[in-house]
Amino acid sequence: MYGMIHQAARQMVHAVADDATWSKILTTSGLQEEHFISAQTYDDEVTLTLIGAIQSVTEIPLDELLSAFGRYWIEFAASTSYSSVLEMAGNDLETLLENLDRMHTSIKSTMPDADMPSFYVSRVEGRDLYIEYRSSRTGLEAFVKGLLEGLLDRFGDTGEVSFVRRADHVEFTVRREVAEAA
Ligand code: HEM
Repeated sequence: MYGMIHQAARQMVHAVADDATWSKILTTSGLQEEHFISAQTYDDEVTLTLIGAIQSVTEIPLDELLSAFGRYWIEFAASTSYSSVLEMAGNDLETLLENLDRMHTSIKSTMPDADMPSFYVSRVEGRDLYIEYRSSRTGLEAFVKGLLEGLLDRFGDTGEVSFVRRADHVEFTVRREVAEAA
């Protein structure tokens, strides 16, 4: 994955832990500064090694870590030069998810080697959204759950995110609570 993802992971650790923790993570992973170049692409193995090292040093269960990273990614992306891309993609969850593939495609013009996932809003029932997630990668469900929770926060919504693995995709359900009248 692109170094931008590694940078986000580094920044997330720095936000909650001290420098010694980060040094330990670097030593455990065997990674160096050269693995954190935003516009460079690395084998997924490198990204997984980094996540694995954060997990073993912090002792946070993998699913919890991936979902915290998903939530963090939304804040992180909004603090980068991609914030306008995110803003243009939509001002509510449903619109943003419907525009997400187009958004990732436009990001690919600056990160041509990115292997982007695909999201499809298959059903809307009241405030509940059903979303089909497809990717060439496996095992990122907890990350996606965190991303969707981060988007709920972004739009001032509260709710629950769950998922079920289907034959050729993972189906996520976002149940949004009805906002209380002011
Ligand atoms: C401006 C904001 C965003 C930027 C700049 C961005 C960029 C990227 C990049 C560079 C990758 C890595 C692809 C690779 O290196 O092969 C990626 C992957 C991914 N993105 Fe985004 N993204 C953004 C927002 C979102 C949002 C809002 C979601 C919400 C669901 C999302 C879902 C994902 C997922 C799940 C992956 C993992 C790849 C996979 O599943 O195979 N992204 N994105």
